[in-house]
Amino acid sequence: MGTSSIPAQFTEAELKLLQVLVYQECGMHFDERRTHFLQDRLQRRLKECHLDSFYSYYRLLISKEGKDELAKLLENLTVNETSFFRNKAQLDLFHKHILDDLIRRKQAQRDYSLRVWSAGCSTGQEPYTLAMLIADSLAYYYLRNPQSAAVPSPKPLVPPPWKVEIIASDISYSVLRTAQEGTYSETQMASVDYSYRLRYFDKTGERYAIKKALKEIVHFDFHNLKTEYLPQRNDVIFCRNVMMYFDEAEQKRLLKKFARCLNLQGYLFVGHAESLLALTDKFTMVHRNSGTAYQKVEVSG
Ligand SMILES: C[S@@+](CC[C@H](N)C(=O)[O-])C[C@H]1O[C@@H](n2cnc3c(N)ncnc32)[C@H](O)[C@@H]1O
Repeated sequence: MGTSSIPAQFTEAELKLLQVLVYQECGMHFDERRTHFLQDRLQRRLKECHLDSFYSYYRLLISKEGKDELAKLLENLTVNETSFFRNKAQLDLFHKHILDDLIRRKQAQRDYSLRVWSAGCSTGQEPYTLAMLIADSLAYYYLRNPQSAAVPSPKPLVPPPWKVEIIASDISYSVLRTAQEGTYSETQMASVDYSYRLRYFDKTGERYAIKKALKEIVHFDFHNLKTEYLPQRNDVIFCRNVMMYFDEAEQKRLLKKFARCLNLQGYLFVGHAESLLALTDKFTMVHRNSGTAYQKVEVSG
């Protein structure tokens, strides 16, 4: 079928059908302010599929054979903006206070595992930033406590007996592929200072590649936050600039899931334009020098 007759505009009823489907599939909510974006992406997908009517495309989306196309549509509707060291005040809170608290608490319990989940990790800058901060924190901790376990030579990135696992997930396979590759342009590196570049990156041609040892502690995986099957037993969850695309009902559902996915006294970070106020009673706010996080308060569930 030709593509020249793709409708320039879709009707309100057609867009509504699509909005409901997208909401059911991934929780993303498209209000009037984002209708234009939805129209544009829909036209692109019809063109790509060589279809010229909304209903033939919609039938494809809800069919068994249309699973891949549905995934592609969702991928096209996501906003993937991200950067290294995004929101410095928040990361300072994580690095200087929360990691310190976690490392001390865990060591007192002889539990040497740290598990952090970057939910909605986009092209990987967030989980790799967290990996750099955690590696630095553990190295510094051992420098200040030389009596702790003997460190082999050459020094591993994560000093034994610690085990660090960063789960990084997204709903878009294409951003996950980029993240897994872990190479970044000079522009993308703008917020990475030289001491981090020297320690955690190799220069390959025009690009910067994440060093193998750092890559090894980050595990990328597909997870749709709309589903119940999500990574459990996390000490910290970062879900920044994701919830803002969900409506209030979906945000509340997600916060309940996050509370279940966190260990006792675990921490949750959301984007600076997002707030948990009035959405949940399962977290209490932690605030330092304009950096904000939330700590799980309840005993179970
Ligand atoms: C704006 S980016 C945020 C990236 C990073 N967290 C940051 O703050 O820099 C939002 C990411 O959330 C992902 N996302 C949106 N809806 C999702 C869902 N239902 N499940 C998992 N990831 C989702 C998008 O694919 C996108 O990569």
